[in-house]
Amino acid sequence: MPTEQYRAAFDLLARKLIEDEARLGVEFPYVTGPSGAWKTLPASLSAGYQGAAWSHGNWFCGFWVGLMFAAHLHTGEERYRRIAKERLRLVAIRADDGNTHDIGFIFYSSAKVAHHVTGDAIHRDLALKAADKLRRRTVTTGRGTYISAWGPLDDARGRRSSAIDTMANIPLLYWAAGAADDGSFRLAGEAHAIMTRDAFLRPDDSTYHAVEYALPSGERSRGFTFQGYADESCWSRGQAWAIYGFVATYAATGKSEYLTLAERLATYWLRRAGADLVPFWDFDDPAIPHAPRDSAAAAIVASALVDLAHLHPDAAAGKVWRAKAEAILDALCRDYLATEPAHRGLLKHGCYSKPHNIGPDAAVMFGDFYFVEALCSILMPGRFKPLPTVSA
Ligand code: GLY
Repeated sequence: MPTEQYRAAFDLLARKLIEDEARLGVEFPYVTGPSGAWKTLPASLSAGYQGAAWSHGNWFCGFWVGLMFAAHLHTGEERYRRIAKERLRLVAIRADDGNTHDIGFIFYSSAKVAHHVTGDAIHRDLALKAADKLRRRTVTTGRGTYISAWGPLDDARGRRSSAIDTMANIPLLYWAAGAADDGSFRLAGEAHAIMTRDAFLRPDDSTYHAVEYALPSGERSRGFTFQGYADESCWSRGQAWAIYGFVATYAATGKSEYLTLAERLATYWLRRAGADLVPFWDFDDPAIPHAPRDSAAAAIVASALVDLAHLHPDAAAGKVWRAKAEAILDALCRDYLATEPAHRGLLKHGCYSKPHNIGPDAAVMFGDFYFVEALCSILMPGRFKPLPTVSA
């Protein structure tokens, strides 16, 4: 598809961001409701247990900041940059949130982008503060070290649990290793990736959503799901997060075993996504073909594959991965753009959490972010985020 289509998607984003910004007050969008309007939450909403139930809090807020910076780069207009910086001040409070691995998502998409785009040290310091909080979630066991996903670390329920989504939070640690010239961030990220490799993968290269470890041994107790169809199913977005994280781990460490692993996971994902390239929300939902799709899963994989293609030591293989990434983006541009004025967000048919009935068929904030990240990597390489490089 000509890059004109990607630019048109970007134009749509820029227009909608300005329209929506005027209606948000101090809140941030997370998913669209049945009418197509954004639902919003304050950035200050932290993650936590409410009785037995876990609430993820507002882990979406940073993505709005990142999208504003992307629109600034695309349009050259100063107003997007000004809004992004104002919004980032509202998000900054979450850098003290020690309750969740999602601190990685929040600041990878906001302060880290702000620093790259503006060069301002204040944004680097904020992203580093968040990376330090994320690193403090490491749990050391007899079998290695992982980053706990949910809850305060003195709560046994969260402490023993690890989630596949964390693989897409550790890129903040890899960034911090370079930004602070402190390799301990990279070590924490890679340690987590190693335990994920060993505990989350099934023999067919699909992944579990979550794993519980026995402590302090670090023996794997069980695999389970929170947002997927069933404990033994493969949640398509979980697999996408794993691909994204192992590509980043390859870049950060230079170890080819992680590249090979990312390729295996991506091969599985593409096989199960089939010709449509935008998968059902869970590859194993028995309601398929009447189950919802998840455009966000496709966007995450597309962004990961653009990086994988760039990093690949074999130029011919890199070309093949790049073609797959573009095919996914083409499908999203062709069939998933929310061009109707009433439907907010950029991509329709994301699925935030079907089991909890939250945005089961909606625009989802992170789907828009990773879609736009992929477009930036193609249209303006190195401007939205550093060009990926393989560490020696
Ligand atoms: N927490 C990440 C996700 O919902 O995919």
